[in-house]
Amino acid sequence: MPLIEFICHDGETHQVHVASGTSVMQAAVNQGLDAILAECGGCASCGTCHVYIDNGWIDKLVPASAGEQSMLECVSEPARNSRLGCQVRVTDELDGIVVHLPESQF
Ligand code: FES
Repeated sequence: MPLIEFICHDGETHQVHVASGTSVMQAAVNQGLDAILAECGGCASCGTCHVYIDNGWIDKLVPASAGEQSMLECVSEPARNSRLGCQVRVTDELDGIVVHLPESQF
């Protein structure tokens, strides 16, 4: 059960253990974190699950697909470490991953 540490915009942290293969988006929604809206339910078509992967972890992820990259061009305040939470699946290799949540999805 890998661990995800979410860091909210106000600095509040939430540590969540998830089944391997759970998406960052689903973990945040299950935890009731308001910063993740996930309006499309994980189809990579809304951009409202935008997160910032901690710089120490971003290069350990499978790179974003072309579809994810084009959706990331539409999110508010994109950055090099931006990802769609629904497209990042947390496996045992990512145990301890740190994910920063934006202040707003708009
Ligand atoms: S939930 Fe819609 S893009 Fe991720």
